[in-house]
Amino acid sequence: MNRLQRYDQNVFSIADLQREGTKKLSKMVGEYYNEGAMDLLSMNDNVAAFDRVRLRPRVCIDVSQVDMSTECFGAKVKMPLGFSPAAMHGMAHDDAELGTSRAAAKAGCNMVLSTWSNHSIADVVNAGDGYGNAYGQQLSMVECWDTNMHMIRNAEKAGCAALVLTVDCAYLGRRLNEYRNDFTLPEHLTFPNLPPGINPYNFVQSDPRTAYDRAFTWDKVEKIVKSTSMQVYLKGILTAEDALLAAESGVHGILVSNHGGRQLDGAISTFDALEDIVAAVKGRIQIHFDGGIRRGSDIFKALAMGADYCWVGRIPVWGLAYDGENGVSLALKLLYDELLITMALCGCSKLSDIRRSHLARLRGDGTFAKL
Ligand SMILES: Cc1cc2nc3c(=O)[nH]c(=O)nc-3n(C[C@H](O)[C@H](O)[C@H](O)COP(=O)(O)O)c2cc1C
Repeated sequence: MNRLQRYDQNVFSIADLQREGTKKLSKMVGEYYNEGAMDLLSMNDNVAAFDRVRLRPRVCIDVSQVDMSTECFGAKVKMPLGFSPAAMHGMAHDDAELGTSRAAAKAGCNMVLSTWSNHSIADVVNAGDGYGNAYGQQLSMVECWDTNMHMIRNAEKAGCAALVLTVDCAYLGRRLNEYRNDFTLPEHLTFPNLPPGINPYNFVQSDPRTAYDRAFTWDKVEKIVKSTSMQVYLKGILTAEDALLAAESGVHGILVSNHGGRQLDGAISTFDALEDIVAAVKGRIQIHFDGGIRRGSDIFKALAMGADYCWVGRIPVWGLAYDGENGVSLALKLLYDELLITMALCGCSKLSDIRRSHLARLRGDGTFAKL
């Protein structure tokens, strides 16, 4: 028998982890994490888009060693996967972002911390100390420039390698579960990354320190790039047009993302968006990807379509909900094994072997054809 290891009695895939993790959450918290905006079209299509593409394996290639290592945010990492910013890991488990950080670091993955995290960026970076992975700080720009700069300087001080500006959030998406469940912030949670004096329980558009900057334009992107030593990424790019503007603005890269379907419902799935963006950017800046990844083969498909690095938002939350830090580690072990097997069975012994020609797309007549 040469089967890979069994890590848990109940969880053998991310689908199992979602089911088992969600069982441990209240309806209000579970739906906050698992749902998105309006009718969940984009959220569900992010997942479905991967199934519209199949794999074209190559055989009789030496895959006795499979190397998944790559570089991201200037760090050499063990696999092309990291954690996207997701607010309030503390609602899923008391380990919160510290547990997520430890699991990421041990597995050689990068992590981007949400502005709305329940631990400070300094503590989250320290939790992963010694493993060599890198961290990013996510920032949703607000009207008050001092507040934005406070977040940026804090991240620099903590040793963050990247600043991830979320640009799909001028208005918050209509997340119907939050109305239906009368979503309220649990009172034990703190938000230490926010500047002092801001009450997280009272976020209002009338206070410039908490009001999203709805006039955030490309000139401000350039200003941010000039104001920090960190690599700057724009998160929430879905079109080739904006990817090209991003390349001209001086950012290090973009994150092709639709916020996991939590913002503009009906927006194109991120996997469908990727192809045009890759073709337009032609290697000028880094292209990162998130949305709908639930298996190692999804990571493989995104890389084959031209992504440089992949991120997941909900998976670490399901891991935390299931078993704190251990649950997050479990998720990463599963994804590592799945990606390794997919690469090996497609004849790829390193990431640069993964190509578009490994993909076949569903055609109108129901068959799959080489891309
Ligand atoms: C519960 C939750 C909270 C999130 N909070 C943030 C956030 O604070 N900032 C942000 O830029 N994106 C946020 N996102 C979006 C994620 O960064 C990411 O784009 C998305 O989860 C990717 O899709 P996936 O969950 O299918 O992997 C959040 C997503 C979820 C599920």
